[in-house]
Amino acid sequence: MSRLSVARLLQAVFLIVLTMVSNSALAVNYQALVDADVRKFQAYIHKEFPDVRTADFADGVYAIDSQARKQWKEVEEFPPYDLAVDEGKALFNKPFANGKSLAGCFPNGGAVRNKYPYFDEKRGQVVTLEMAINDCLTANGEKPLNGMKGDLAKISAYIAFISRGQPIHVKVESAAAYKAYLKGKQFFYAKRGQLNMSCAGCHMEYAGRQLRSEIISPALGHTTHFPVFRLKWGEIGTLHRRYAGCNENIGAKPLAAQSEEYRDLEFFQTAMCNGLSFNGPASRK
Ligand code: HEC
Repeated sequence: MSRLSVARLLQAVFLIVLTMVSNSALAVNYQALVDADVRKFQAYIHKEFPDVRTADFADGVYAIDSQARKQWKEVEEFPPYDLAVDEGKALFNKPFANGKSLAGCFPNGGAVRNKYPYFDEKRGQVVTLEMAINDCLTANGEKPLNGMKGDLAKISAYIAFISRGQPIHVKVESAAAYKAYLKGKQFFYAKRGQLNMSCAGCHMEYAGRQLRSEIISPALGHTTHFPVFRLKWGEIGTLHRRYAGCNENIGAKPLAAQSEEYRDLEFFQTAMCNGLSFNGPASRK
């Protein structure tokens, strides 16, 4: 090798090493940023409710209201969502026109609750469980289902049921994922509607206080247990139906189930539940 080509080779190696070093130095650890948020968020809730163990926040308002908890425990002895879970199971295994079924789209027999929500790097968006179910349907030539209630909520309830106890660990590992997370966070803290209230205003600041006939739940645990059979609805509904309801209650425009805003909000809210476990479906007033 000539002296010139050795010099060129050395230069090339030097450049490669330099790029590697500067890339790793510049790489932002998004997960660490999220983890810091989670610690702050959970510490705030723990300060408000020092006697409640972290895991118990998965029970929503019943973690902080012992009287309501007693009635709820009685309701859960004959869970009103049982029928929905059975119907969800049948729908999960029911053959499509092409002979395949939802079961073919999900590994682990469908016990996949804690794979969602996740940020799909290729699609550049948050994918929720309900979205993945609808994706499977449309990929197989079937019609997508209503994102608020009915069959979609039932299938989601079945998947949640067979996934009970799975630990929540939402990952945020890229700039694009972090952007979606920040959008969800912004949605959570932004004031809106005629009452000019934020989700955080009620579910952080006023958590534990009475609002008409209800005690406001802490936001920690909000996404662990959906879908929910609400006695008020008389049926099972999705998390996004609840989001829409809370938006309406403050005179803000409810968004469509599975809209990007609600998926980002679910992504943020579920990340805040990191360390808790999925325990859906559940019953609520
Ligand atoms: C004016 C106060 C208020 C605001 C603002 C509000 N909520 Fe609620 N929310 C409630 C009340 C009251 C309930 C029913 C009792 C409870 O917290 O479980 C509820 C219930 C919920 C539940 C169901 C909890 C469970 O255990 O099943 C979720 C999830 C939720 N809200 C999310 C949100 C989000 C996200 C926002 C912002 C878009 C929001 N809420 C805004 C008052 C509010």
